[in-house]
Amino acid sequence: MNILILGSGGREHTITWKLAQSAKTTKLYVAPGNAGTEEIAENIAIKATDFNAIKQLVTQKAIDMVVVGPEDPLVLGIHDFFLQDESLKHITVIGPSKAGAQLEGSKEFAKQFMARHGIPTAAYHSFTRETVSEGKRFLETMNPPYVLKADGLAAGKGVLILDEIEKAKDELENMLVDAKFGDASSKVVIEEFLDGIELSVFVLTDGKHYKILPTAKDYKRIGEGDVGLNTGGMGAISPVPFADESFMQKVEDRIVKPTVQGLQQDNIPYKGFIFIGLIKVGEEPYVIEYNVRMGDPETEVVIPRTQNDLAEVFEAVGDQTLNTIQLEIDGRAATTVMVVSGGYPEAYEKGMSISGIEEVEDSLVFHAGTKLDKDGKIVTDGGRVIAVTSYDEDFRMAIKKSYQSIAKLHFDKMYYRTDIGFDL
Ligand code: AMP
Ligand code: GLY
Repeated sequence: MNILILGSGGREHTITWKLAQSAKTTKLYVAPGNAGTEEIAENIAIKATDFNAIKQLVTQKAIDMVVVGPEDPLVLGIHDFFLQDESLKHITVIGPSKAGAQLEGSKEFAKQFMARHGIPTAAYHSFTRETVSEGKRFLETMNPPYVLKADGLAAGKGVLILDEIEKAKDELENMLVDAKFGDASSKVVIEEFLDGIELSVFVLTDGKHYKILPTAKDYKRIGEGDVGLNTGGMGAISPVPFADESFMQKVEDRIVKPTVQGLQQDNIPYKGFIFIGLIKVGEEPYVIEYNVRMGDPETEVVIPRTQNDLAEVFEAVGDQTLNTIQLEIDGRAATTVMVVSGGYPEAYEKGMSISGIEEVEDSLVFHAGTKLDKDGKIVTDGGRVIAVTSYDEDFRMAIKKSYQSIAKLHFDKMYYRTDIGFDL
């Protein structure tokens, strides 16, 4: 098979690395990719959202399967684009239809979906510019902290958690009336605050059957001890120690099954990953959010622990025969630490040369924001630069290995959190 992977981060490098190990893979292309994918596949300089350029590429290179990494092409309807085109519709696309992608593309859609299918989540109400006064009155009926969520995609920044009622009212006004998050906040979901510990559960579905992948926990804040600004994710571990068998049974019965069945009942075609952001309140799971793709950096620990031939698994998703696949999971723990550019998630520089990658022996190095400069040297090209993944008996030993490997890496203004897993 010739396979095209869309995206350019650590998630995409990891998926490409895994697909490169498959006997079913003939040629791998990544668009646009990074310096890491360039070593094991052919990078093509087109954007993951440029559907016409993707069509041309797929036709030219006789691509059999397209694996969509990020959410934007899915929310824009790339799967539907393929299905509606006579010359593309036979190609397997891993990632849901536009309707399915609404689970991530609209918080209100996701909340209504959960309500319709009895899936546990925080109680909520949604408001628009016209109902901003009702929204403020609704806030008065709630207890702090107040959770305000922009309905649409806001690059992970659209959620505000506020302790003061007056501040919450002001922010509601900013979001609805002053378009704080642009169009994404033309509608705002206000929801009950859930107090617990977060984890992520990843499901792969072919629309009929599903497989639950290893659990993971990521560390979203820039600062140690989970303080400071939100990032895309600064590190992850898998499995999550507190997600024991009885908890995971609840997750499967109350959340995973009704989600997959709900998509079927609502006639929403879905062939791809469902990333379920959960919060464990006492012993009970609640859904915080759905994403319609794998997490990043969670992919960097979940995929390395999955021992199956990934191309074969994706083929089964395309054929709706996922029930014939038995997942094989590595019993070891995996950890990843994200090495970022100083300044991230605010302004940072690009183009810094990176050294030491070839000296790392005990860990896997996944590129996130890198590229080859005109002399063929690896330089930084994003906020999150490199994810260093390690395996060991338990996550504490694995994390130590990741830090030993990171000590060999260098670039100007390099930063990483030294406390991944601190709360476990
Ligand atoms: P989201 O973009 O929906 O994942 O929200 C971003 C982050 O806000 C989550 O990872 C949680 O840490 C937090 N959060 C979102 N909704 C709630 C809630 N209802 N209660 C407590 N924390 C929440
Ligand atoms: N690490 C969180 C995400 O991928 O959204």
